[in-house]
Amino acid sequence: MYICPLFYPNAMMYYSQIKGLGFYVPENVVTNADLEKLMDTSNEWIIERSGIQERRFFTEGKDTVATMAVEATKMALKNANLEAQDIDFIIFATLSPDFNFPGSGVLVQRSLPFREIGALDVRAQCSGFIYALSIADQYIKSGMYKNILVIGSEVQSNILELSNRNRNFAVLFGDGAGAAVVQATQDPNHSILSTHLHSQGQYAEDLFLEHPGSRLKDRMSPQIIEEGKHLPFMQGQAVFKHAVVRFPEVIREALQANGYAESDLDLLVPHQANLRITKYIQQVMNMPDEKVVSNIQKYGNTTAASIPIALTEAWQEGRVRSGDLICLAAFGSGFTWASALIRW
Ligand code: UT7
Repeated sequence: MYICPLFYPNAMMYYSQIKGLGFYVPENVVTNADLEKLMDTSNEWIIERSGIQERRFFTEGKDTVATMAVEATKMALKNANLEAQDIDFIIFATLSPDFNFPGSGVLVQRSLPFREIGALDVRAQCSGFIYALSIADQYIKSGMYKNILVIGSEVQSNILELSNRNRNFAVLFGDGAGAAVVQATQDPNHSILSTHLHSQGQYAEDLFLEHPGSRLKDRMSPQIIEEGKHLPFMQGQAVFKHAVVRFPEVIREALQANGYAESDLDLLVPHQANLRITKYIQQVMNMPDEKVVSNIQKYGNTTAASIPIALTEAWQEGRVRSGDLICLAAFGSGFTWASALIRW
């Protein structure tokens, strides 16, 4: 039963804490030089426009969105000092599920000794991990669950046509997975302070993968393939222009909601969309490199996986310390954008 603290002032107040983090990336490293052999591009162009030096592509038969998520989950559980049986709910963010249905959350549920817990897939693309984290935060604050597994995992390399017609998209994206165990705490001084979610569907077709979808009787046809409409489409410049406005906006929204100034922020973990976008955010928000996590150079844009991978690496490097004020922020297809402010 939910007990409203307004009417029952002695009722328990729950907050959410990220208790453990993990990630997994496929072993297959694809460099810009590898892509030069497949399309009309260059190492210089890719680095100058995006900062990316290499990315990981999955190995068929070894890696799937679900298996990568399971590897990330094992690390997150270990770091949280918890077992699969302790988890009450799975939230899985991905735009590239193993199957059209069911979602990938249930494939994780069956892969480790979880109880018969709920498994929810979230489709908010690059903002997916923060949307999923926000959902976890609400379930924990309501008192419904104690430990929630939040995952972002993507296999995108097999929707990239490594050819000239798809080159503006193909050079940017990679595969990988990240996971976080979110746990109930009664300590507001080490918890998720707030999350902020947005969307603007009028731009849905500026970054989308149209086919196969459910709008046509024949979901796939030779004509669709001929026209390249089975490939992701991106208005790169439009995405860029919106991203550089929405990122600072949603970071400031989170800070203002909690009474903080930009200078109070210890670490920003942005979705790894493009190093130029991140550098622009840093410039307008006056944030030095030490306060911003960038690992797009190694992994490219891994969509829903990018924030948990970056956060885990930052944590492993000792850049996430108890008491730090940390902001996660994302922007992507939808358009969707989101932030989460955490007192670690
Ligand atoms: O997670 C959110 C998802 N997406 C993003 O955040 C992406 C946001 N957008 C971007 O990052 C940039 O728009 C891109 C990196 C995609 C492209 O950079 P840009 O500076 O906006 O380049 P552009 O699209 O204006 O293209 C400049 C030129 C064009 O040639 P012309 O017309 O000037 O002759 C393109 O055809 O670069 C050409 N081009 C390429 N050249 C070499 C496009 N892709 C490539 C390529 N290699 N891979």
